[in-house]
Amino acid sequence: MCGIVGYVGSKNAQSILLEGLHRLEYRGYDSAGIVTFQDGDACLLRVKGKVAGLDSLVNDSHRDDSIGIGHTRWATHGEPSERNAHPHNVGDIFLVHNGIIENYKDLKSVLETRGYSFVSETDTEVLTALVDSIYQQDKNLFAAVSEALHMVVGAYGIAVVAKDNMDEVVVARSGSPLVIGVGEDETFIASDPSALVGNTDQVIFLKDGEVAKCTRDGVTVKDSADQAVEPIVETIEMDIQAMQKKGFDHFLVKEIFDQPESLSATLAGRVVKDQDLLRLGGLNMSEEELRAVKHIFIVACGTASYASMIASYYIERFADDVVIDTVVASELRYRSFNVPENSLAIFVSQSGETADTIACLKEMKQRGVRCLGVVNAVGSTIAREVDGGIYIHAGAEISVASTKGFTSQVVALVLFGLVMAQAKGMSIEDVRPYIDELDALPEEIAAVLDTKNEEVKQLAADYSHYEHAFYIGRDVLYPLALEGALKLKETSYIHVEGQPAGELKHGSIALIDDRFFEVAFVMDNELFEKSMSNIIEVQARGGHVIVVTNSSREIEAERVVRIESRLKMFTPLLFNIVSQLFAYYVAVNKGNDVDQPRNLAKSVTVE
Ligand code: F6R
Repeated sequence: MCGIVGYVGSKNAQSILLEGLHRLEYRGYDSAGIVTFQDGDACLLRVKGKVAGLDSLVNDSHRDDSIGIGHTRWATHGEPSERNAHPHNVGDIFLVHNGIIENYKDLKSVLETRGYSFVSETDTEVLTALVDSIYQQDKNLFAAVSEALHMVVGAYGIAVVAKDNMDEVVVARSGSPLVIGVGEDETFIASDPSALVGNTDQVIFLKDGEVAKCTRDGVTVKDSADQAVEPIVETIEMDIQAMQKKGFDHFLVKEIFDQPESLSATLAGRVVKDQDLLRLGGLNMSEEELRAVKHIFIVACGTASYASMIASYYIERFADDVVIDTVVASELRYRSFNVPENSLAIFVSQSGETADTIACLKEMKQRGVRCLGVVNAVGSTIAREVDGGIYIHAGAEISVASTKGFTSQVVALVLFGLVMAQAKGMSIEDVRPYIDELDALPEEIAAVLDTKNEEVKQLAADYSHYEHAFYIGRDVLYPLALEGALKLKETSYIHVEGQPAGELKHGSIALIDDRFFEVAFVMDNELFEKSMSNIIEVQARGGHVIVVTNSSREIEAERVVRIESRLKMFTPLLFNIVSQLFAYYVAVNKGNDVDQPRNLAKSVTVE
């Protein structure tokens, strides 16, 4: 949510900043801006809308400045506009900011009495003025930023420059990620390591409370008590290929088609079929500790929470002495919940930076609960703060709507459940069917992509004109319906609700008429007949029903998408491929911005 970039070196800062912003645009795309400067002369370029708007401004301005900062915004305070776009400038100071300054109104009143006036509605402009007011005393930028931050309440990742200081970019973080890339005679700054790919693989992940001075020669870091800290430089592996569309029209469809490969990466070395083996290296839990677990909180937001729900339905089947609470992070954190003895908390997050999930992690740690992460982004805040966990290794997910991350999250959680259940005594005979199916899953997904793509494309063409829809399912297909509904609503802007199939008649069915279509997931199992009854009830009220099923039985519905698979347990993950493709093609048919849907941003770093 919002992207920050910065550079100090000898190369052209404008082009480095622009390239970084293009890479980070998936984090926010309401407005964008950069500032570069030389000898007190600053060039500030800002636009409402996407980073592409900056490209032509940069072409016109032709600067060869070698220091600057930039930002792409997801609006919190103040509407998306050029005036509210970052960098903000007050006096000598230019500043970009992710997060929220909660006490900005109090600070603003004090600054107004000192003669500052404000042109934007943002909390960021207030922070910029605060830094300037201190900077003017002795022109020490590092000290001014540190002092200003002692007066701030809130969350921030910031990068700050002073136009009369050609040598320094000062950065700081508290609750919002910031990474420094160390190059030869140059230093890069970004809110996300993906912006650094191609420039350097040597990075310093700033910790909460730290402030750093970045120069051409290196980086100086101090902590919140103003004590010098020796920065730890790490090598990150990032694949530039994963950040390209590889011939697809959009990242969303590329990432849907990535899934056979990304899921294989999740499984690699963890499911070893020919040795009947499951192993997870990073849990940092002994067999005895796994055996002792009696209660699991799985904490996540959005799609990650639906992945968690689905996994919990599976885990409950084989770990029957464990109670699982799957909770949405933004709710859990304000509940006065009890933590039973022998509890474990698992935090599921593609980005590893979701603010509500991080807040819950902090709360659980404070209460002494062992915390695990199921995370995609290596080195992210959640990955660094947990006691152990599982990297899903799905590769960079650029499209705002999560697809391959979801599939790998479900599988990683099920893997954890199986490893725990084995420690509790689940026999290899009982585990083997899971190993077989998990091992086969990437190929089965590839087969669905291969055989169903054209059919779903046509289906989407036929249903794109509807304005309302329900997704329904029973058992594990219920959270799958929630995920299908979310994917369709966020990409297509159709009003979609996910419901347990059996719940519809307890109220929501009142809405059904022929303006609705309904996607019903139906497994060929003991719930088949009951699911069919729910479908008939909808059709009787004029609703148009699309059934997605692995059954070959006769089904009366407007459309039936049949998935042929030898899988029995993980067929729902194949149904979900249909949901993902359907959401993609409906969004394309409607001419929507598929990878960057309106009002959204990847990685929600505000609460
Ligand atoms: C929907 C989507 C979001 C995220 C949610 C959590 O397609 O992507 O609902 O799943 O914002 O994000 P992470 O997994 O990064 O914590």
